[in-house]
Amino acid sequence: MHDYLAPVFAQYPLPVARAEGVWLYTPDGRRVLDMYGGHAVAALGYGHKGWTDALIAQAQAVNFQTNAVPMDVRLRAAERLVKFSGLPFERVFFVNSGAEANENALKMAFTVTGRSEVIALEQGWHGRTPGAAAITWGAMEKWYGYPRTPFDVQFVSRTDTTGLATITEKTAAVFVEPVQGVGGAFDIGTSFLQALRKRCDETGTMLIFDEVQCGMGRTGHPFGANLYGVMPDMITTAKALGNGFPCSALLMSAKVSKAIKLDAMGTTFGGGPMACAVIEAVIEAIESEDLLANVRRVSQYIRDTCIVGPVIGHQGAGFLTGLKTRVPAKQVQQALLAQDILTGTSGDPNVLRLLPPYVLKEADVDFLAAALARLTF
Ligand SMILES: Cc1ncc(COP(=O)(O)O)c(C=O)c1O
Repeated sequence: MHDYLAPVFAQYPLPVARAEGVWLYTPDGRRVLDMYGGHAVAALGYGHKGWTDALIAQAQAVNFQTNAVPMDVRLRAAERLVKFSGLPFERVFFVNSGAEANENALKMAFTVTGRSEVIALEQGWHGRTPGAAAITWGAMEKWYGYPRTPFDVQFVSRTDTTGLATITEKTAAVFVEPVQGVGGAFDIGTSFLQALRKRCDETGTMLIFDEVQCGMGRTGHPFGANLYGVMPDMITTAKALGNGFPCSALLMSAKVSKAIKLDAMGTTFGGGPMACAVIEAVIEAIESEDLLANVRRVSQYIRDTCIVGPVIGHQGAGFLTGLKTRVPAKQVQQALLAQDILTGTSGDPNVLRLLPPYVLKEADVDFLAAALARLTF
């Protein structure tokens, strides 16, 4: 068969034909433990009944209408998401991808503040569209691809709070992943996020948490905002939100909501009924199956049992785990795949990134720990 696909993604040597729970199956029947969850998307694992039933029922009831047509399922999904967060957000705007949610968050920050400068963190990753890529560390040098960025961006250290003096009365927004994903499953931590909140309050700057990867329960808490106890002005989230059905959301505080006018944002597909039905189903499953507790318990088990073989430490939070390796993580990743375990790498060459489905159990971790212990390099 001729390959018409744009050759922009390096390919894992792992064709997948079907999947069940936390296991992937190749066309010839090989079974592989998925510790990467399709880039943090497959929160409920594969073949989840509640999620599948919700998708089918909504497809049969009405598969699509735009945001101009009121639909209960959209109202319910927004309410369920705000309640799931447990945070005082007032409005939700549904879109389709992480980058698109970030573009809209940027736009709202410019609108609310009337300013044009943005601050982002070193090693942060926010997407491939013009605004989201402009605030992504290293994008300009590697793959930005547009003639210029649409606004001014400065990057500050993710560990040293003295850099926060860069935030001034000219700064519209500070963008931060509470736990950086591509940056190496690196937890920014309470004190840094508190310092950011304080400086943003002093300067009237919007604090935006990009929780596209670390949100929706991945840390064992609804959002990084809950884990670290810091309330941002906006949260963007995606990936686990739809468990594989493309969708994302922008959650806005009262301060931001006040500035929303008709036509301020827009989308054709965002907030479609099928996306909203699966958002409800994802939250229902996380809550009714007590998956946050499972993430907290099993992620601790990973930390207790997987510091073996080439692994010398860990970082990150919950199921956004970084295993620190004393040899290049890529080498460990390849060796694990040869032992039927799929893992991820990251921007840090010595961090192996684990993003498993929230239904992972201790027995699955034992399989990983045993494989790691067999690696002798
Ligand atoms: C933290 C973060 N923000 C934004 C994005 C972009 O999301 P999408 O690929 O859905 O546009 C990603 C994707 O990996 C991400 O990890």
